[in-house]
Amino acid sequence: MKLLLVVACALVDVDNRILIAQRPEGKSLAGLWEFPGGKVDPGESPEDALIRELKEELGVETRTACLAPLTFASHAYPEFHLLMPLYVCRRWSGIPESREGQALKWVRAKALRDYPMPPADEPLIAPLIELL
Ligand code: C5P
Repeated sequence: MKLLLVVACALVDVDNRILIAQRPEGKSLAGLWEFPGGKVDPGESPEDALIRELKEELGVETRTACLAPLTFASHAYPEFHLLMPLYVCRRWSGIPESREGQALKWVRAKALRDYPMPPADEPLIAPLIELL
């Protein structure tokens, strides 16, 4: 089975709220809420991929030193096995805005369960609640 590496990030603001994004129509898992991020390209480090995706999707800039690994998801989808490290980022520049038509929401860790997420993302909630 193919192994797919996708990096994800919990952007955490000064009030300890986390940014989630809703996958837009036309994408797989449309309508579900996820932590921003995306696929690691060949030859790219996970951190560089995340920095690139945060810029593309949200228009924010951050640095490797501001990305703290928290946990990871390992989930078997029918077509591939997803390995997804989750980083926590509290320092970035710019105000996150929707650059790809995705809805955005700042939510408290304990409220994350109110937003339907892809099955791979759900196990990431508990470590965030514990952290925050
Ligand atoms: O975002 P993208 O479509 O490139 O991600 C590839 C696949 O990884 C998705 O189709 C989805 O199955 C999975 N994924 C996920 N949770 C995320 C991001 C991606 O399960 N937060």
